[in-house]
Amino acid sequence: MNIISNFSLKKHNTFGIEAKAKQFVAVHSVPDLKTVLLENKAQEKFILGGGSNMLLTQDIEALVIHIDLKGKKIIKEDDDFVWVESQAGENWHEFVLWTINQNFGGLENMSLIPGNVGTTPVQNIGAYGTEIKDTFVLCQAIHIESQEIKTFSKSECHFGYRESVFKHEVKDQYIITSVVFKLTKRNHKINTSYGDITAELEKHNIKTPTLKDVSNAVIAIRQSKLPDPKELGNSGSFFKNPIITRTLFNEVKAKFPEIKHYDVSETEVKVPAGWLIEQAGFKGKRFGDAGIHKNQALVLVNYGNATGQEILNVSKEIQKTIFEKYGIAIEAEVNVI
Ligand code: EPU
Repeated sequence: MNIISNFSLKKHNTFGIEAKAKQFVAVHSVPDLKTVLLENKAQEKFILGGGSNMLLTQDIEALVIHIDLKGKKIIKEDDDFVWVESQAGENWHEFVLWTINQNFGGLENMSLIPGNVGTTPVQNIGAYGTEIKDTFVLCQAIHIESQEIKTFSKSECHFGYRESVFKHEVKDQYIITSVVFKLTKRNHKINTSYGDITAELEKHNIKTPTLKDVSNAVIAIRQSKLPDPKELGNSGSFFKNPIITRTLFNEVKAKFPEIKHYDVSETEVKVPAGWLIEQAGFKGKRFGDAGIHKNQALVLVNYGNATGQEILNVSKEIQKTIFEKYGIAIEAEVNVI
């Protein structure tokens, strides 16, 4: 395996930030991955998937291991369901389209989310009323220290809103190598409850949408709101939507009656960070080459040559202003390196 020194990561992060890996290796098979881990046991490691959920603010001194495991297949099926397995390095959207083209249901609302399959369980990606935990069965992962393979069942993943065991209890201990999803072959649970999807389908006069119709609607909505990383560097939502106490929510609502919210529980409420940021006047603002997207205030963008530090500074300014204005702390969803 070819370990490259001083490797530019610009093409390996969707923010398009120039940063270097002191050492970089791409692995294309699980045995190769085991070898790299074993031969570099003493060295600090940094695991890189699709680079779609990170902000690089410095060069990486560790050995960067790029997980480039490819392959997807049906592993089991009955009359109603199919179990599909994808290797970690497959592009998520291409995998979703592959399932839809075979009329397998369950992932259509998550069309066009950037990134690779292997990182989807880490933050339990979700969009338009669906999260991967809804169809996730298990994932295989390799323990970095011992190189042992472990299967994580759904319950072992402790999925929450943009959360999982991989961000907490076993953080930085495992590399996910493949994921299995259970999808429908018939009686698809079409989920158009999300307002934007209903409106998009109505626009095309679609009354009984197919999986492909839902996927196309999601693609159209995302393309209208979210910048394409190939054209404008970004990492999707930079912040999580904050979950706050109902007491705090009521205080904020008294001052800002038009605030939107989703009920989480009796005592907790989720509020859209995009709305808070837009109301605070940041939407579309630009600071040098770092900025806030004009159509979706949750997304920070790199207009060309922004450094990770510049983007981080903008994010901190937003957090400070939101806290001062509403008393709400918003947290980054993106991993800041
Ligand atoms: N809003 C604003 N201004 C904005 C953005 C949003 O007022 O600039 C308001 C909208 O009007 C709407 C509410 O906030 O009432 C929610 O907006 P939207 O439907 O666009 O979704 P979001 O909460 O901003 C979340 C996910 C997205 C996902 C969408 C659709 C998080 C952090 N983000 O965004 O995920 O695509 O819902 O389901 O949960 C991502 O994680 O990278 C991502 C793009």
